[in-house]
Amino acid sequence: MTNSQTRVRAGVAGWPVAHSRSPLIHGYWLERLAVEANYQLFPVSPGAFPAFAATIGRDGLVGANVTVPHKEAAFAACDRRTPVAAALGAVNVLWRENGLLEGDNTDVAGFLANLDESAPGWTERRQKAVVIGAGGAARAIVYALLARGVERIVLVNRTPGRAAALAERYGDRVVAAPWAALAAALPGADLLVNTSSLGMAGQPALALDVGGLPEHAVVADIVYVPLRTPLIEAALARGLRTSEGLGMLLHQAAPAFERWFGRRPEVTPELRALVEADVRAAHGGAR
Ligand code: ATR
Repeated sequence: MTNSQTRVRAGVAGWPVAHSRSPLIHGYWLERLAVEANYQLFPVSPGAFPAFAATIGRDGLVGANVTVPHKEAAFAACDRRTPVAAALGAVNVLWRENGLLEGDNTDVAGFLANLDESAPGWTERRQKAVVIGAGGAARAIVYALLARGVERIVLVNRTPGRAAALAERYGDRVVAAPWAALAAALPGADLLVNTSSLGMAGQPALALDVGGLPEHAVVADIVYVPLRTPLIEAALARGLRTSEGLGMLLHQAAPAFERWFGRRPEVTPELRALVEADVRAAHGGAR
């Protein structure tokens, strides 16, 4: 018996959430893998998150993604968390097991899967990375780089206190540097990652001369609107290897789908093209 109450479903909770591309991604996999379920948008206002979390595991709702501004509230709502979610203090995937609400954070896995795919063998040179930004995304990316053995991370942020606090959290291998030191940090960097919103449609570009990076450097950006940020364009023009933001979005979705539906989905060229077309359609000039 399937009706709207009992049908297997998952979705994404956020505020606002209408812009989310998760329904497109999960909807593609549900169809391709012939899984009888649907994926919904859940607009959940900040105060309403605990009540929403309580509905997971009931009435066919097998789980949910969690986006801005609820990742910390989702963390707090969980009975159990994976080690990576516990380390980050933020949860973006929820499900229920034996009555307990469980949480994971797939941003680390998504970032690394994308980087591995775009720049195979990047860990052969991992003495130094420069990370721009000090928000939730930076927290996940610093964790990811440390987990893969990057020896030293220079963290640069507009608000120096946030970079200092993040560096403190991760210990000796992460050092905060002032914004003015960014150009001087580039020589010798094996990897540069922008985790800030600079370069996003409607935001200023990240003013940085990629000419300061070594030839072997990899440049990663988590921004995916536009699909190619000015930073990525500049890196490509210099012949550097790059890792673009859309890939992280696609790869972070895969472990959540597998968790709820028991099937490992693939990030196919077809899925990528579908989401790229959606970004282009929604943002006109933002390629
Ligand atoms: P997220 O969780 O996605 O990382 P966030 O916590 O809002 O989001 O962080 C956004 C990052 O982009 C921050 O590092 C922010 O710098 P501040 O800590 O100084 O706010 C950075 N950012 C946003 N707009 C910026 C701008 N115009 N110039 C420089 N950095 C900017």
